[in-house]
Amino acid sequence: MDFLSLAQARWSVRDYDSSEVEQEKIDRILEAARMAPTGANRQPQRIYVLRGDRALAKVRAATRMAFNAPLVFMLCAEVGEAWHNRRETVMRGTTEDVYNTAEMDVSIVCDHMQLAATEVGLGTLWVRGYNTQVLLDAFDLPEGVVPICLLDVGYPAADAQPSAMHFERKPLEQTVFEL
Ligand SMILES: Cc1cc2nc3c(=O)[nH]c(=O)nc-3n(C[C@H](O)[C@H](O)[C@H](O)COP(=O)(O)O)c2cc1C
Repeated sequence: MDFLSLAQARWSVRDYDSSEVEQEKIDRILEAARMAPTGANRQPQRIYVLRGDRALAKVRAATRMAFNAPLVFMLCAEVGEAWHNRRETVMRGTTEDVYNTAEMDVSIVCDHMQLAATEVGLGTLWVRGYNTQVLLDAFDLPEGVVPICLLDVGYPAADAQPSAMHFERKPLEQTVFEL
């Protein structure tokens, strides 16, 4: 599949069948994660693989958005390891006191994973709708490791369909500007 076809084939899956995800596909997704670029190549991502009843019950306590996925990646950042710009003290629109690339880094990693999963016939959902404190308490993450997003993965249920939002993309004139 060429890149544009792959990007067009991805959609947010919110209903999965009960099949497990094969280990070789998980390995391939994780290798795609490893190839992602990060600011100053710091690679601050920390990826936790959640599968099996115990881990999935914990993540489902923090979010409704894990749905019935048989596999959830919890993508975190070791924020102290991410590239920081101490001269840019306040980012417009945020309360960050020192700008760092942790969210961008992990987002690129997540996007690589999402597309790698799509390529091997899996469905995914990128999730930010969760309670961070519940995740931190449930998984006893190391100090300084912060959840950035979740990625649900599994085979789409036979009757799963893209939501209406999938078909709503703004025309380029609304999002691209030549200066
Ligand atoms: C950063 C980010 C956070 C998201 N968080 C959620 C979420 O918490 N719950 C959810 O159902 N979908 C979530 N989504 C999925 C978006 O709603 C979805 O990508 C968008 O509506 C476009 O639909 P499509 O992915 O089917 O093309 C998230 C997507 C991104 C990129």
